[in-house]
Amino acid sequence: MKLVTCGLPYANGKAHIGHLRTYIPADVYVRYLRMMGEDVLFICGSDCHGTPIVVNAEKEGVSPKELVDRYHEHFKKVFKELGVEFDFYGRTDAEYNHRRTQEIVKTLMEKGYVYPKEIELAYCPKCDRFLPDRYVEGICPYCGAVARGDECDQGCGRHLEPGEILEPKCKICGSKAIYRRQKHYFFKLTAFKEFLLDYLENKLEGTSNALNYAKEWVRRELKDWCITRNLEWGVKFPGEENLVVYVWVDAPIGYVSFTEEACKLKGCNWEEIWRNGEISDIVHFIGLDIVYHHCIFWPAMLKGAEYSLPKAVVASGMVKVEGKTFSKSRGYVVWVEDDYLKAGFDPDYLRYYIVSYTSHEKDLNFSWNVLKEKVNNELIGTLGNFIYRVLHFAWKNFGEVRMRVDEEILEKIREVKEKIEKSIRAWEFKEVCDAFMELATFGNEYFQYKKPWELIKKDRDECERVLANAIQLVKALIVFSYPVMPKSMEKVAKAMNFDVKSAKIDSALEVDEVVKLEKPVLPFKKIEDEKVREMEEVLMRRIEGAEGGEFIDVNDFAKLDIRIGKILKAERVKGSKKLIRLEVDVGGEVRQVVAGIAETYKPEELVGKLVPVLVNIKPAKLMGVESRGMILAVDVDGKAVLLEPERDVPVGSKVR
Ligand code: 2FM
Ligand code: ZN
Repeated sequence: MKLVTCGLPYANGKAHIGHLRTYIPADVYVRYLRMMGEDVLFICGSDCHGTPIVVNAEKEGVSPKELVDRYHEHFKKVFKELGVEFDFYGRTDAEYNHRRTQEIVKTLMEKGYVYPKEIELAYCPKCDRFLPDRYVEGICPYCGAVARGDECDQGCGRHLEPGEILEPKCKICGSKAIYRRQKHYFFKLTAFKEFLLDYLENKLEGTSNALNYAKEWVRRELKDWCITRNLEWGVKFPGEENLVVYVWVDAPIGYVSFTEEACKLKGCNWEEIWRNGEISDIVHFIGLDIVYHHCIFWPAMLKGAEYSLPKAVVASGMVKVEGKTFSKSRGYVVWVEDDYLKAGFDPDYLRYYIVSYTSHEKDLNFSWNVLKEKVNNELIGTLGNFIYRVLHFAWKNFGEVRMRVDEEILEKIREVKEKIEKSIRAWEFKEVCDAFMELATFGNEYFQYKKPWELIKKDRDECERVLANAIQLVKALIVFSYPVMPKSMEKVAKAMNFDVKSAKIDSALEVDEVVKLEKPVLPFKKIEDEKVREMEEVLMRRIEGAEGGEFIDVNDFAKLDIRIGKILKAERVKGSKKLIRLEVDVGGEVRQVVAGIAETYKPEELVGKLVPVLVNIKPAKLMGVESRGMILAVDVDGKAVLLEPERDVPVGSKVR
């Protein structure tokens, strides 16, 4: 049996278009494989642990479990509506996953791959707690960008180990964190370098984006991973009451424990998949951002614990929204339930969009206008048009058609079938769509060329022969596009009394004696311009209302600490035409501030003036002189004009 898995979504927020980039192609892949006769188990589930969940639950004032329950149900519902049909959708906080995780961790300890070590950890003296992962923010030691404890998410993208982040600050109270020693446990990733090189070079299959990144990382440098955290929510680390395992340990182990549960229900044997020797027929579908975890960390853990290794990792490219990088915080997001499903769009349109837009490895741009064009031109104009015309004409004029099909037509269908099978095996889902759309174009041309509407008046028997060919093409199209658009094709197939749900890919070539027809329904509904405008407006409003959009809210403004300062001293910065070095009393403290005002003011004019100063701006060096604050001024064609309070005010007064 083959196992196909999808990266487990964090049960921490709603499903968005970025998620679907992985789940829809995986579902399409599984449906094709089954049609091609393969026995496949398809699993996924909620990733329920980790600091983001704990932090969000804390923010909302609910327990992590309550938060996870809510989003677990949300994802299940969204997948159902989109026709993404897992055999089992588990959760990593379930007892079965705790059990399997502890077993694997214990095995790794016994084999010497997990060891304890005292390390320095970020600790908040005010909150009196250790600060794991996202509880701490600071500076990335590699690139200098602002980063969170476990990941340089805004800079170089590196995974950060506990203790690595510079200038740590507590995310809860904002105070400066200190480093404190504590015993933690490490996974000896460095012991797997040779194994990983061989595995990645010679054994692991999948998309080249995943494999190339992974090889490069392993060649460069591996570090042992700290696999324990100071949290209550999570899988307890064996023998340590106050530690849980790092979420990236128990999450992929979910793949194993979900397989166990699925097998209980389906009567298969999970050990045949996960404990059957070196490489097993396991295919992981993931997003490009978690390649490191799936191609390096996970195989090393499996190897260490003597489990089977995955055969392939298939990584999808990233998602853009209306041409801009996907970003929830900046509003460039499409929420699957609220924006798409509730607005009444057909789930099959989105399935088709995602698999047909571009190759699986490339970036996918979602645009409402492109959706409209793909649906109206490709699905309706080419595919739907052919299917409907043929079925309607045959039903109206014949009711039933004797299926005398030409060998050339079957040959054409065979060719397309082979193309589809080959593309599926290469995870080239766009090529699959191109192949069946090309067959639809062929069908349209055939119908147009043969003109059955004229033929019927002259030679009814010949007309029936033409229709038999066309109906066979329709049948093939229904079979070939069913995995991409299951609901639509099921509906269409009824008109020719064909049960596509249980069809195999070879059914496309099977010729019935007679096809009985029912009145067909239109397979697809047009998307109107008006609807596109409406959706674009929803997106625009969201972008404007988002962080970094046109509006900031009052809390953003409150972050600015602006005070009235008095200039005590002023002198030009040597070598600069623009800069003046000031000493400013900002109320109980004299700050050195460098301001670009030398083109409008002489130093001696400035002494004694009251000016607004932004005092909590990050210190910076200008021409080698440190500036700890920023004078606010009016910009008149690039020249600064100072602002003064309308009457005398005490130094240090707040500006609001
Ligand atoms: O990055 C993520 O969204 C993770 N929740 C994926 C986990 S995949 C697996 F390893 F469990
Ligand atoms: Zn704190």
